Amino acid sequence: MDQWTRVRRCAPAAVAALLALTSCTTSANGEANGRATAASGTPGAPGVHDPYFPELGNGGYDVTHYALTLDYDPKAHRLEATAEITARATQDLSAFNLDLHGMNVTSATVDGQKAVVSRAGDELTLTPRSGAGPTDGETFRTVVGYSGRPATITDADESEEGWLRTADGALALGEPLGSMAWFPGNHHPSDKASYDITVTVPKGLRAISNGELRSERTRGDRTAFAWHSGEPMAGYLATVAIGKFETRATRTPSGLPVFTAVDPAVAKGSAESIAGIPDIVEWGIKTFGPYPFSSAGAIVERDGDAGYALETQTKPVFPGPPSDGLLVHELAHQWFGNSVTPKSWRDMWLNEGFATYAQWLWDEDFANIPADRNFAEAFDNKANWAFPPAEPPSGADLFGDPVYGRGAMVLHKVREAVGDDAFFGIVRGWASTHRHSNASTDDFTAYVEKKSGKDLKALWDTWLYGKKKPATSR
Ligand code: ARG
Ligand code: ZN
Repeated sequence: MDQWTRVRRCAPAAVAALLALTSCTTSANGEANGRATAASGTPGAPGVHDPYFPELGNGGYDVTHYALTLDYDPKAHRLEATAEITARATQDLSAFNLDLHGMNVTSATVDGQKAVVSRAGDELTLTPRSGAGPTDGETFRTVVGYSGRPATITDADESEEGWLRTADGALALGEPLGSMAWFPGNHHPSDKASYDITVTVPKGLRAISNGELRSERTRGDRTAFAWHSGEPMAGYLATVAIGKFETRATRTPSGLPVFTAVDPAVAKGSAESIAGIPDIVEWGIKTFGPYPFSSAGAIVERDGDAGYALETQTKPVFPGPPSDGLLVHELAHQWFGNSVTPKSWRDMWLNEGFATYAQWLWDEDFANIPADRNFAEAFDNKANWAFPPAEPPSGADLFGDPVYGRGAMVLHKVREAVGDDAFFGIVRGWASTHRHSNASTDDFTAYVEKKSGKDLKALWDTWLYGKKKPATSR
């Protein structure tokens, strides 16, 4: 049931006037009740109990779509924005939370009615004033107006994300926590949604975001760029890049649109590697199966504009001209991480292990380096043995060497155990089974065992969960 099929009922005019509401409230059950009722339902949980970030995300609803309208002035470093969030309630809600870091909330409505707003830390709580919040299964629309100077967030591992000011504009990066600095939402990777991101910037600058460009309109001295992402996206993969860009629209050999945006300062230095994107994507399709999104591409910023590259959906961000290896890595994430997304941040190795192993496969196919050799190197690298990849000790370790290097070693061990044919079948099957969805480490080990018909407990115990480096790599 959605809000259009609910029964509408009207509160007595006096009560409505007292509460400064419109004269109608909505009810999912249509019971004959002429009074403004006390709050029904219970508050949605403030987090989804992620092992590293328990308050990240929110319970009680599932977002299906974000429509973000952002107006940014780089000189003043000021963002004026509206977030329209369409979600389905998963319980009767008397109130619910959104994650938002900083910014001033200037207005909030739920299904067109004013909501009471309160804030504590990064939790924004909305209480529908009518007392009748969304009911279980109902689709509801929340609109939040907000403005201010969006923050840069320093991660547990000291890297900077959120809203970064760049040499000629700004860049939004969000893994793991940065997206809450520029829009309110359900920012845990388990709640994916489609997005429309419209960004207005001073004329002469461009605004690049995920998905496909729907329109570009200049009015007076401002230009609005409207980007559409039809396939589900986790919040940490959303990006906006504002500045001067050389843009190019092309296609892969099989016809997939490719859009690249490159900071003119690094255009020369990145021209050659960027030109390789269509072929890398095509190789990815052959190796991992159908490309999961409607377009591919890249955003290349100046060195120093950001501290890390990120696989932002459809258009990974690179701080400076990328190497082929890094391009392969971030493009492989489109399948592993972006389409098949971790259920919790603990499952991070499923992202980084696959993306790193993709580099080993690329080396095998194009650099004449057998994966065995990359494996042996990773095995000998002490840094890869700091902790088991499936159990990073803390949020500061989510991007530690074992998550990447030992994560890739786990996949190589699976390949050795089942043989090449079964292995590539598993890789493609994993991508298609969990396409546009979420999966955990347990989902992965169960899937591999089911597909191969093998009991691989010893492999998982040693390579995925083992605290110590085994005596030999065999
Ligand atoms: N996922 C990115 C990659 O492809 C790395 C993100 C690093 N984030 C951080 N907070 N250190 O490797
Ligand atoms: Zn990665």
